[in-house]
Amino acid sequence: MNAASAPAKEQQPHAEVFLGVNIGCGTSVADGWYNIDNSPTIWLSRIPVLRSLFRVPAWPKSVHRHDVLRGLPFGNETVDCIYSSHTFEHFTYAQSLFLTKECLRVLKPSGVLRIVVPDLKQLVQDYLSDPDSMASHRFIERLSLSHTWQDLFHRGAHHQQMFDGRSLLGMLDEAGFENAQLSNFSESRIMNLAGLELAQRRHESIYVEAYKLRAQDQMQLPKGA
Ligand SMILES: C[S@@+](CC[C@H](N)C(=O)[O-])C[C@H]1O[C@@H](n2cnc3c(N)ncnc32)[C@H](O)[C@@H]1O
Repeated sequence: MNAASAPAKEQQPHAEVFLGVNIGCGTSVADGWYNIDNSPTIWLSRIPVLRSLFRVPAWPKSVHRHDVLRGLPFGNETVDCIYSSHTFEHFTYAQSLFLTKECLRVLKPSGVLRIVVPDLKQLVQDYLSDPDSMASHRFIERLSLSHTWQDLFHRGAHHQQMFDGRSLLGMLDEAGFENAQLSNFSESRIMNLAGLELAQRRHESIYVEAYKLRAQDQMQLPKGA
């Protein structure tokens, strides 16, 4: 049984099988990962006539439809790695903080959390260096903060917040990850990122990685470190 097909509720603490979870996977899934997304188009795509009628993307069969804001469907300390690309900005700050705490709960000691989001600082720099007369409109469009009828059917269809490096690290720290650090495209403690981290997102993204401290590491940390 590989991680992607493992039923979540049967995961035992410290199970030997690798369990990597991809939160807000969209259609970019990778073998061996437990891919989660809550788009309603996942259902539509599984019925051929509705798929062509509504022109929805062909969702890979391995995607599990689940709203992560209801919590992660895993037991405490059962998950090896969590990856999430361009999804945390679809939540309010309070929701993303809740989800980050959920990540801490389900990760095994030394388990890794890697979050990739659009970098507000980079978007602002792109805007400031754009000589086009419509640069202001392009900037606002890229923020994707406006809400449309799609939100009625899909909570999380649009952005609700924007991060930069400081705010993303701050959220991880507030959630209890004491060692979060900025990272770079494709540089990770996670061995099998291939197929998940998209090169086309590189320019506009901020990468952050943290791991869950083992109990003995926490005891050794000086207060305030
Ligand atoms: C911009 S896409 C990112 C897809 C992919 N990870 C990538 O980097 O291209 C954000 C994804 O988050 C999903 N999403 C939003 N809210 C969610 C929620 N509450 N639970 C699970 N998935 C959610 C959306 O359906 C969407 O597929």
